[in-house]
Amino acid sequence: MLQAERNAGGAAGPEAAPLPLAVTRLTLTDFRNYVAERVEVRPRPVVLTGPNGAGKTNVLEALSYLTPGRGLRGARLPELARIGGGGGWSVAARIETPAGSAAVGTGIEGRAPDGGDDETAERRVVRIDGAPARGPAALAELVRVVWLTPQMDRLFSDGRSDRRRFLDRLVLGYDPEHGRRVAAYERVMRDRLKLLRDGPADDAWLAALEARMAEQSVAIAAARREAVMRLRGALAAGIGPFPGADLRARGYAEEALDELAAVEVETRLQDLLRRNRPGDRESGRTQEGAHRADLEVTHLVKGLPAALCSTGEQKALLVAVVLADARLQAAHRGAPPLLLMDEVAAHLDQARRAALFEEIVALGSQAWLTGTDRALFESLTGAAQFLSVAQGKVTGSDG
Ligand SMILES: Nc1ncnc2c1ncn2[C@@H]1O[C@H](COP(=O)(O)OP(=O)(O)OP(=O)(O)O)[C@@H](O)[C@H]1O
Ligand SMILES: [Mg+2]
Repeated sequence: MLQAERNAGGAAGPEAAPLPLAVTRLTLTDFRNYVAERVEVRPRPVVLTGPNGAGKTNVLEALSYLTPGRGLRGARLPELARIGGGGGWSVAARIETPAGSAAVGTGIEGRAPDGGDDETAERRVVRIDGAPARGPAALAELVRVVWLTPQMDRLFSDGRSDRRRFLDRLVLGYDPEHGRRVAAYERVMRDRLKLLRDGPADDAWLAALEARMAEQSVAIAAARREAVMRLRGALAAGIGPFPGADLRARGYAEEALDELAAVEVETRLQDLLRRNRPGDRESGRTQEGAHRADLEVTHLVKGLPAALCSTGEQKALLVAVVLADARLQAAHRGAPPLLLMDEVAAHLDQARRAALFEEIVALGSQAWLTGTDRALFESLTGAAQFLSVAQGKVTGSDG
């Protein structure tokens, strides 16, 4: 266990006000390369440094499960269990929020000695203040987490699914029900495909599922549009050296809502789903719906789509989106999200790095930053706590 810089404030001068949303204790049990590790931090930004393979990204990944969804690496839940452990894992945290303090825990049970069933291993259990929650979606009301990882350097060049997930994580900040709605939509979509494939060919049943999918697609699209609209305003002028950007949610319902009333879009999408039945049955894929949407990002100064920008420019665009979102959230919910920034410093030039750190401090966000090189974070000395990570152990350092 580690008590990071307890009472260090006295020596370092007057203590800054504690952040409105922050993790103050994180406990990892059989999570990735951690056996049982407890990290105590103050409500301030945190810098984790250490050699390759130490466990820095794993700490960020653990924090990413304090929110609904598939986590920062999109891993399958059993993969997160420590190799050589019992097959289960858990992440527990004490979180300070504007509404008070909460104890949150999440994880999966180990496999029973008789082998257990796969279903159990795929379900993430969540407890809030000791009581079982309805599911990970309940976390969205309590805490928001947004991340930037090196894998996201490919966000604008790869397929749309990661961009859509990025957008949906942003939407959660404005509409905590969004995750539940997307999950419900995906369930109905699977039911319809199964019915198309395996029968019975029941027109009324299919029509009911399609009506539900159309209705959910429009609700999901409306939430995406709303979040994008808010972000557009905050992003247009750029943030310091991070460029102005324009955002657009693309997709059948997302675009149809420009011109038509929601009920009309719903009817049209329902008709489309009906017409698509033979093709969907043939391909085993649903051709149209909320799961096909995309997020389009344009670099405003250059007037170019993000995909045509350089790697560094793309990173700067992503940072701009995340910072704009954090600013809006601070105004909207009284606290900016936790920001998980994996190796973000290494990708930015000195001026952008300094601007990012300044903005994090000004925002009052508990950012968790990682890097192999402590020197890159020098300008955060005094404002952040520095922790060292080595071989699945987290210890305080002289920051
Ligand atoms: N399920 C698991 N059980 C045990 N160890 C694991 C598991 N999954 C990953 N690891 C190991 O955890 C270690 C730390 O990984 P992590 O990605 O956190 O490193 P890092 O400190 O971010 O390193 P880098 O600087 O290279 O990004 C790695 O050696 C990895 O192989
Ligand atoms: Mg890493």
